Amino acid sequence: MVQTTYSGIHCALLGAGRIGRGHAAALAAIEEVVLTVADADPERAREVAQGLKPASGTAVEHTTAEQVFACPEEYDAVVIATPTATHEELVLSCARVGLPFFCEKPLASDLAGTQRCIDAVSQAGIASQIGFQRRFDPAYSEARRRVRAGELGQVHRVHMLTCDQNPPPESFVAMSGGIWRDCLIHDIDALRWVTGREVVEVMAFGQVRGADYFRTYGDIDEGVALMRLDDGTLVTAQTSRNNGQGYDVRMEISGTRANATVGLEPKVPLVSVEPGADFPGSEPWVDFIARFADCYGRELRAFIDVVAGRATSRCDAREALEALRVAIALGVSYEQGRPVRLEEIQS
Ligand SMILES: NC(=O)c1ccc[n+]([C@@H]2O[C@H](COP(=O)([O-])OP(=O)(O)OC[C@H]3O[C@@H](n4cnc5c(N)ncnc54)[C@H](O)[C@@H]3O)[C@@H](O)[C@H]2O)c1
Repeated sequence: MVQTTYSGIHCALLGAGRIGRGHAAALAAIEEVVLTVADADPERAREVAQGLKPASGTAVEHTTAEQVFACPEEYDAVVIATPTATHEELVLSCARVGLPFFCEKPLASDLAGTQRCIDAVSQAGIASQIGFQRRFDPAYSEARRRVRAGELGQVHRVHMLTCDQNPPPESFVAMSGGIWRDCLIHDIDALRWVTGREVVEVMAFGQVRGADYFRTYGDIDEGVALMRLDDGTLVTAQTSRNNGQGYDVRMEISGTRANATVGLEPKVPLVSVEPGADFPGSEPWVDFIARFADCYGRELRAFIDVVAGRATSRCDAREALEALRVAIALGVSYEQGRPVRLEEIQS
């Protein structure tokens, strides 16, 4: 049962799974947010809603996505944290009823679907934000500032990693769209955002080294990518679902004058075998929820600022298109065993 009288911003969170639970807590921590949690599993929605202590002091309600779109006048905004395969339909529903939305990456499973979402958002004139939370990370932001200010000189090389300590469950892999679209897409967005350049050519290699279910869905659990940017910068990237030492997210940007490295801090899951080396000294990150908790909070606060009319979106729906194009190119390269130029990848 959704309340009909409220002050503040009434936000419906769709999807209360791994990331949705964290987003529910982050939204509940914002004083002006009145939250309703919706999930295809009503028991999960109820359990998550009842476990929250909202800063607004208003009880968190629970419902289903269908009920949200049946009564859109009761809401001011939607946060979509459902499986990737459901995003397009839910985004199009937001556009149909005129509700601004935040959507977890990727916006849709393919380029045609992403373009349909972008067109619908534009026609509806609603605000949108994509869940590329690294744009709200202090180190990625500082790297961007240094690159854009020319402090690194001319950037020649970038190296990036996103490696999970443990694989996601089979149910997630079945609907994720594969490691390039699901996981490395964060690095691709960060690459575009930090350097301001576009990827023009890629080559990818992949392997299944762990759970067999990656093979079942045509996915891999180890991937390496080479990319060339439009100014000649060369990029290497690694992604894994089996990084025993911990959750590893890094970006190293090297220029003719200096270097900027994101993720080189005490919780980086690296082990130095240099005699006497005592860095890094802390327990490593275990997963994205711990590593990016602050960023998820910041990106959702930024979204609420957009909904309240205090800011414009820092990562709107259009930002999803080029990142997805690169991720798809990597998939084609891996499957066909050849370099792929980005102009080949059209919707
Ligand atoms: N930004 C990040 O760092 C990050 C991290 C993890 C996941 N994600 C993205 O978040 C999304 C969800 O991932 P997850 O790992 O939380 O998945 P999950 O499978 O753990 O949770 C998904 C939840 O959505 C519910 N659901 C399914 N269809 C629904 C519908 N139509 N309406 C309402 N609820 C529905 C499911 O019952 C489940 O509770 C994916 O798109 C994924 O790419 C982003």
